[in-house]
Amino acid sequence: MRFNVLTLFPAMFAPLQESMIGRAVEKGLLEFNIVDIRDYSRDKHTKADDYPFGGGQGLVMMPQPAFDALAACGAGRTRNIYLSPRGRILDRALAEELAGEEEITLFCGHYEGLDQRVIDAWQMEEVSIGDYILTGGEMAALVLIDVTARLIPGVLASESSALDESVYSGLLEYPQYTQPRSFAGLDVPEVLLSGNHKKIALWRYEQSLLLTKERRPDLFAAYLERHPALTKDEALVLEKVRG
Ligand code: ADE
Repeated sequence: MRFNVLTLFPAMFAPLQESMIGRAVEKGLLEFNIVDIRDYSRDKHTKADDYPFGGGQGLVMMPQPAFDALAACGAGRTRNIYLSPRGRILDRALAEELAGEEEITLFCGHYEGLDQRVIDAWQMEEVSIGDYILTGGEMAALVLIDVTARLIPGVLASESSALDESVYSGLLEYPQYTQPRSFAGLDVPEVLLSGNHKKIALWRYEQSLLLTKERRPDLFAAYLERHPALTKDEALVLEKVRG
């Protein structure tokens, strides 16, 4: 999958070279084309923003550098997203949809925003990562890339990891422990050392249910609605937690 990322701050995308995403690039599963919008400014001072018509605070990103940068990366044939607090909230469903695309172009706004003509002419979808205002779209683009990339087959170490985890089964993840068994007087729950895989699975299921009921009653209610297929023992655990 290929991401074109248009930004005034290309250095903010250095993290894409690290960790799982960096490895996916090396494996050829992901490709990033980070474009400095300023490189497309025809102004002799590489100006990319100006005062808003009608007055008001701050600067607005100008259409010319944006249009030329978008044309140069072939945004006429890609799904185009403008990261913006006005947009559709990014969630699992949207990430799954995006993971099915071959190529996406992300436009990162800065200052007070982007000239509306760019959004309209390039048929940009607006996507927000939450109800708060960031200083620019770069961090939001990184979040969108990360959540989408991990759904692409081969990006995670184990194929099943993306499905196993919390929201994917509709529950929050149970607590995890590793070596040593005892650390600073703090012990790992006995059941995890028992070697009884059935007992361990039931304990984890119960922990997931308890956490979800306490922290995310909305997800817990949706889980009950879904009537998941359960073994007899799992059904008993669910009954107990549900109360
Ligand atoms: N730009 C500024 N705030 C944002 C947000 N919450 N989501 C996406 N892009 C943004």
